[in-house]
Amino acid sequence: MLAAWLDFTGRGGVGDLAPMCVPGHKQRQDLVGTVIAGDAPFYGGLDTIKHADNLRVDAERRAAALWGADWCRFSVAGSTHGNQALALAVGQPGQHVVINRTLHRSLLLGLVLAGLRPVWLTPEIDAESGLPRGVAVQAVQDALTAHPDACGVFLGDPTYVGTVSDLAGHAAAAHEAGVPLLVDAAWSAHLGFHPELPAHALAAGADALVTSAHKALPAYTQGAIVLAKAGLLEPPRLDRAFDATHTTSPAGSIMASIDAARALLAADGEWLCGRLIRSVAAARKRLREVPGVDVLDGPGVEPTKLVVLLAATGAHGITVEADLIAAGMPVEMADRDTIIPIPTIADDQERLAAFTEVLIAAIERHRGEPRRPSAAVSWTVEPEQVLAPREAFFARNETVPADAAVGRVSAELIAPYPPGVPVLAPGELITATAVAALREVAADGGRIAYAADPSLQTFQVIAR
Ligand SMILES: Cc1ncc(COP(=O)(O)O)c(C=O)c1O
Repeated sequence: MLAAWLDFTGRGGVGDLAPMCVPGHKQRQDLVGTVIAGDAPFYGGLDTIKHADNLRVDAERRAAALWGADWCRFSVAGSTHGNQALALAVGQPGQHVVINRTLHRSLLLGLVLAGLRPVWLTPEIDAESGLPRGVAVQAVQDALTAHPDACGVFLGDPTYVGTVSDLAGHAAAAHEAGVPLLVDAAWSAHLGFHPELPAHALAAGADALVTSAHKALPAYTQGAIVLAKAGLLEPPRLDRAFDATHTTSPAGSIMASIDAARALLAADGEWLCGRLIRSVAAARKRLREVPGVDVLDGPGVEPTKLVVLLAATGAHGITVEADLIAAGMPVEMADRDTIIPIPTIADDQERLAAFTEVLIAAIERHRGEPRRPSAAVSWTVEPEQVLAPREAFFARNETVPADAAVGRVSAELIAPYPPGVPVLAPGELITATAVAALREVAADGGRIAYAADPSLQTFQVIAR
């Protein structure tokens, strides 16, 4: 697939192409400029429209072999699409699914699309840091016992902060109940490619795995991989579910970059992951030398994750983040007590060490009164589900002032982003606590995403 992209764009580069098919830019860069450079349609670019599926099947088969899967698809619509595809593949409308409430909003909307009813699991919260740990196996077993009609278990693992749960235990619990374990590992496409990293979900016994190739791997933005084992999940149904919401015009550049990332992992994954593990270990050690700074560490934490804890420095994470942005080093997430940069296999030790020093300087500039960390609302939300997500999504709704919204049922999904965990979701009771917590995030400089009214003056509720 990568070779096909190189061939097509090479021919485009020397003016050897005069296509009478889309894309409409026809490889001309004199109309809208270089913004379309490298764009190649998968169908009709990387190969003819009639033959490109052979190329796709070949590349996806190579990825399936690398991850030990029976089925694989490349997505140009992120883990968002992968999550929703798996939701569409796992059960029938009205069935329950056992699922963690700290899920990404894409998966909650997957429940809307598929008509599944959530049986929520909540993570244990680490008292020291206020951050979520993995979900306990016992919690999954209890949920499956209480809901024998459940069609599957769907977990986000590792969590957004890199904590991991016992996936082999979860897989055993799910299989004991005769249902598949599906894992959203959006951030962790590199797992399993070094002996010091946790096994990836399929190797741990899961039945399906979604991961963003554009997050942990050096693929084009939007590139994602969905992998599955046949048995409890059926490949034809997986294909139907995947194709239901995937574009019919995937970008060849995104698809080929996933193939390139797969090839890189196969050839040099262990070396690159080893370098990343060492770089992150050095950064954690250096940060811990700074008074008041701590990092998430230990056996339950993925070794390439760098989660910086600021509370005891008194520095405010969002102020520190502003300095990092000004220095050209934006991070993935920052809230009052936490900074989460995303080092990847593209970062060498020097680059991460340079970032670490800039981060330390920013923390020093903004030191303040030490405080106790508080758990962000994204990790502690425990909703009261009044209507199933799908029922609420399609119900008649009305807009009411915030005060009047308390005690009503939410029609909308509202998530501080990042991390994109819904604090309110369709069908959930709007509590005064949730409204206050969302307002606190906004007042603290956080982004309130997906709300009809991001100022949180009004809310969309189910009409009476
Ligand atoms: C846990 C989780 N799952 C899925 C996604 C969606 O990934 P993508 O941006 O590739 O669609 C995200 C994005 O941040 C995420 O955090």
